[in-house]
Amino acid sequence: MVVDIHNHILYGLDDGATTLTTTIDMAKKAIEFGISHVVATPHQDFKNYYNPPTKIYEKLDEVNRLLKSENIPLTICPGMEIGLYEGIIKDLERNQLISLNDSHKYLLIELPSEYIPHYTEEIFEKMKSMGYVPIIAHAERNAEIRRHPTKLLHLINQGALAQVTAASVIGLWGHRLQKVTLSLIKQNLVHFIASDAHNTSSRSFDLVCAYTFLDKKLSIHYSNYFKENALHIIKGTPIISAVKLQKRKKLLFI
Ligand SMILES: [Fe+2]
Repeated sequence: MVVDIHNHILYGLDDGATTLTTTIDMAKKAIEFGISHVVATPHQDFKNYYNPPTKIYEKLDEVNRLLKSENIPLTICPGMEIGLYEGIIKDLERNQLISLNDSHKYLLIELPSEYIPHYTEEIFEKMKSMGYVPIIAHAERNAEIRRHPTKLLHLINQGALAQVTAASVIGLWGHRLQKVTLSLIKQNLVHFIASDAHNTSSRSFDLVCAYTFLDKKLSIHYSNYFKENALHIIKGTPIISAVKLQKRKKLLFI
């Protein structure tokens, strides 16, 4: 059972799939690449993309019904990629945001690409007090994190988790980004790998390719760790912290 926790497979909601045909093609591609479950994470930032929960649930029902009728064995679960903004806590209280697989715990949070907003820590603290755990989407694509990985470590120490993109792991976006991504992984600053698939060509489901790459480049224990954590999101069970991976890694090399 391979789970992808971040992608834009639901059509007509954001810059991901544009038509139902693309959604179906993406579903077939996910299956072809060995993925059985995906958490659909349409963008929601109340500025560029407005996707209230009802709109997402309706689309999800429509697509899941169609997949079943066409015997495509992919299960799509609800989620959102939430662009961080100052009013996020109010919208959480108003039930305007969807946690990953309706876990009421894990929230996929997108930071701006250039910097970490000054209110990030304060908002993450408030989320924590409400029982939520923020997962920083494609952490490697934030310039401030790339320059200062200790800032990511700081947010993780505060209780956040981090996801990197499969394409960055395998080097599809260049050697430099790949190097940074692998460095974050090796420093145990990453808890999930996800595809962030938007289509079937330029941004596809590269997840299993990334796992295979890590098996060869680092160790099978990394891919097992990431696979297990994604599974925990679907099962609603606690994820394994990177600290435990560190211990496991130490044990491995004794
Ligand atoms: Fe995304």
